[in-house]
Amino acid sequence: STAVHSDVSPMTLTRYMIEESNQNLDKEHLVDLQGIMSGIQVACKKISSLVSRAGITNLTGLEEGGGSVNIQGEEQKKLDVLSNEVLKNSLRFSGKMGVIASEEEDEPVVVDEVASGNYVCVFDPLDGSSNIDAAVATGTIFGIFAEDDEQPCLINDDEGDLDAQKAACLIQTMQPGKNLVAAGYCMYSSSCMLVLTTGHGVNGFTLDPQIGEFVLTHPNMQIPSRGKIYSFNEANYPDWDPTLQKFVDSLKDGSNKSGAKYSSRYIGSLVADVHRTLLYGGIFGYPGDAKNTNGKLRLLYECAPMSMLLEEAGGLATTGRERVLDVMPTAVHQRLPLILGSKEDVQELVDLYQAE
Ligand code: AHG
Ligand code: MN
Ligand code: MN
Ligand code: MN
Repeated sequence: STAVHSDVSPMTLTRYMIEESNQNLDKEHLVDLQGIMSGIQVACKKISSLVSRAGITNLTGLEEGGGSVNIQGEEQKKLDVLSNEVLKNSLRFSGKMGVIASEEEDEPVVVDEVASGNYVCVFDPLDGSSNIDAAVATGTIFGIFAEDDEQPCLINDDEGDLDAQKAACLIQTMQPGKNLVAAGYCMYSSSCMLVLTTGHGVNGFTLDPQIGEFVLTHPNMQIPSRGKIYSFNEANYPDWDPTLQKFVDSLKDGSNKSGAKYSSRYIGSLVADVHRTLLYGGIFGYPGDAKNTNGKLRLLYECAPMSMLLEEAGGLATTGRERVLDVMPTAVHQRLPLILGSKEDVQELVDLYQAE
């Protein structure tokens, strides 16, 4: 954007969204996205505050002392549940939402506020929550779909059978990642950063605690075409397919195409591992393996939004066999193998799979 960021006129996320829509009237949805992003950024500021003070306010640890398990079969942390409520409500009151699907909600939630719209938000309210009690980086991941006009998600109370109507909405929520109109994450780490794409490049905003605003610090983020870092949970190496094992071995001993010996970095929070990969380059993966053929990460609210960001930043995101953004979801919480990062790194692995 032509405007510049300065102390007397900070390029806040709010201002950026206004300018982007004013400068690109052809970009459908940008005016609506202003309202949606206004809600999301307030929720992220609130979650950032909750996370950073968790130890003080007794918000670490498990929900209900360990009794609450989500549909993924994971024991929910208190902050999983709380951040889900914070984000769900800010989306509901944005007046733009039709349906929201969350890692922490068994079924998509139909937003039937008086002022509701026809967007669908998919989100992981607290990613990397196994790290939260150790104050290691965590994040929020979100994706925005525009509801398919031909099949609006209208819940009609007097038609009864709300479950059948909700099931229809559930199908509504299912769109391939290439249909996303916006995707992003907020990372709660040494600094709080919100990274966003509306389909025309990737921009990074850092929360300035002095003014309580996200300000533009990383305009037009582009991932290096090759990196020197690989990021996998190598505890699963014995269960990986031989092609992946050989590829990662080649990163370690320098026999890969770049000739470089890579370093390993694995934080165990997807948001933090993706953010580092986006900035430094390299390759991240949570592949399918002998124990979990579809890996661990969820397509709708982890793989698809991250894949949109990586492609918009000039990188690649694949299951190993196909482009993540082409995958048509069949269930809200379905898992998908995810390999993403620098174009040359990911392409080298894809070529090995294709040569199998
Ligand atoms: P979540 O905390 O939202 O359930 O996501 C956790 C995911 C992701 O953040 C991370 O990449 C992955 O779990 C780490 O899994 P492992 O601990 O099995 O490596
Ligand atoms: Mn979880
Ligand atoms: Mn997650
Ligand atoms: Mn989560």
